[in-house]
Amino acid sequence: MVQRKHDVSRSWELYDRALEFIPMATQTHSKAPREALRGVEPCYLVRGQGCRVWDLDGNEYIDFRCALGPVTLGYRFPAVDEAVRQRLEEGIIFSYPHPLEVEVAKRLVEAIPCAERVRFLRTGGEAMAATFRLARAFTGRDLILTCGYHGWLNVMSRPGVPEAVRSVYRALPWGDATPFAQAFREAPREIAAVSVACSYAEIEKGHTFLADLRELTERYGALLIFDEIVTGFRLRRGGAQEYFGVIPDLAVFSKGISNGVPLSCYVGRAEVMDLVERVVISSTFGGDTLGLAAARAVLDLYAKEDVIGTLWARGQQLHEGFNAHCQRLGIAARFKGLPPLGQPIFEHPDPARREELFLRFNAEMLKRGVIIYSVCYPNYSHKEEDVAEAVDAIGEALEAMKDQGLFAS
Ligand SMILES: Cc1ncc(COP(=O)(O)O)c(C=O)c1O
Repeated sequence: MVQRKHDVSRSWELYDRALEFIPMATQTHSKAPREALRGVEPCYLVRGQGCRVWDLDGNEYIDFRCALGPVTLGYRFPAVDEAVRQRLEEGIIFSYPHPLEVEVAKRLVEAIPCAERVRFLRTGGEAMAATFRLARAFTGRDLILTCGYHGWLNVMSRPGVPEAVRSVYRALPWGDATPFAQAFREAPREIAAVSVACSYAEIEKGHTFLADLRELTERYGALLIFDEIVTGFRLRRGGAQEYFGVIPDLAVFSKGISNGVPLSCYVGRAEVMDLVERVVISSTFGGDTLGLAAARAVLDLYAKEDVIGTLWARGQQLHEGFNAHCQRLGIAARFKGLPPLGQPIFEHPDPARREELFLRFNAEMLKRGVIIYSVCYPNYSHKEEDVAEAVDAIGEALEAMKDQGLFAS
C-alpha cells in the first residue's frame, strides 16, 4: 500500500476551537480525540459511504469503529436511508402513535427470544435504566447487580451520584458467577436483578457464566437482564441470548437495530413489561418514526440476506490477517473474542505498555487510512477487498512499530 500524506491540521484546529464551547469537544467520551494522537487522529468525520469515511481534511479511511457500533450495515446504506427519506415526506413524529410502532414491535417479538412485549426509546442507557425500574417494581427489591457498561445514566462509580443511590447498585466482573452467588447468599431477598453486558475479549465464557446467572436469578427470585446494545443484530440477530441459548427476563437492543438512526428498545416478559403504566416510563421521542422506519428496513434486510454470516466472515478475515502478521513479525498480540466484535490485544505484563502499544498501533493505522477501535466492528459493507486492504495496512503498521523498537522490551 502506498503511504498517503496524512494531514489532519484542520481537524485539530477545529477541535481546539471547540474546546472553548464544548467540554471535551464531544458528546461521547469514546469519540474524544486523544492528545497523544495530536496531529494523527481525525477529530472530525464529515462523510461516510459503505465501510469508508472521510475526515474534515479530506483523508479517506476504512472504518472499523462504525460510529462505536451502530453502523452494522454500512454508511448511507440505501435501503435504510430510503426508508428514512420516505418518512420525512410524511412526518417524523405525531401527537398519537404511528402504526410503525405496532409493526416493528411485532417483528421484534418474532426476532428476539425473550421478547413478549416491546417498548421504544432513543438511547441504550435510558432503556437500561427503564429495565432497572421495571425489575425493582416487579420484585419489590432495590439492589441491582451490574456487569459491564450500561450507559452513563447507570454508571454509579463517578461523582454526582448520591451515596443512597450508589448503595443500591453493585458492579461485578464478567466471566465467573461466584461473586454473584456470594452476593445472593449475603442478600437473598434484596436483589431485584442482575444485568449483564458481554465482555468481548472473553465472550466465550458466556456459555457457562450466563447459564449460571440464569440459574442463580431463578433460584433467588430476581430478574436477569441482558444488555444486547452491542450484541444484538451483530453476534446474532437476537443477540447473546440467541448465541448462548440463555433467555433473560428483560433485554435492551439499540445500536445495530437501526443502522445509526437513534433508536433503542427494551423487551421482555409480558408480566414485567406490562408494569410500565404504573411505573411510568414515558418519553416524548419514544416511537419517532425515523428510527422505526430504519429498524423496519434493517429487519427486512436481515430476513433476506445473511448479514450476520457476513459480519462473522469479515471479522474472521480481519482477525486471521492480524494474527498472521503478528506471527510473521514475532509480535505478542492477537485478536480476542468473536469475529463480529473482537478486540486486538497486545500482550505485555505492564498495562501501561499494553495501552501505549495499542495507541501507537492506532496511530500507524490512521496514517495508513484505517480506523480501528478497542472493539473492531466489521459492517455488512466491508467487502473482502476492503478487509484485505486493511490487513495489508496492519502488516505495514506493525512493521513500522517494530522498526521503532516498540516491541523491544
Ligand atoms: C454495552 C453497552 N451498553 C450501553 C451503552 C449505552 O448506550 P447509549 O450510549 O446509547 O446510551 C453502550 C454504549 O456504548 C454499550 O456499549
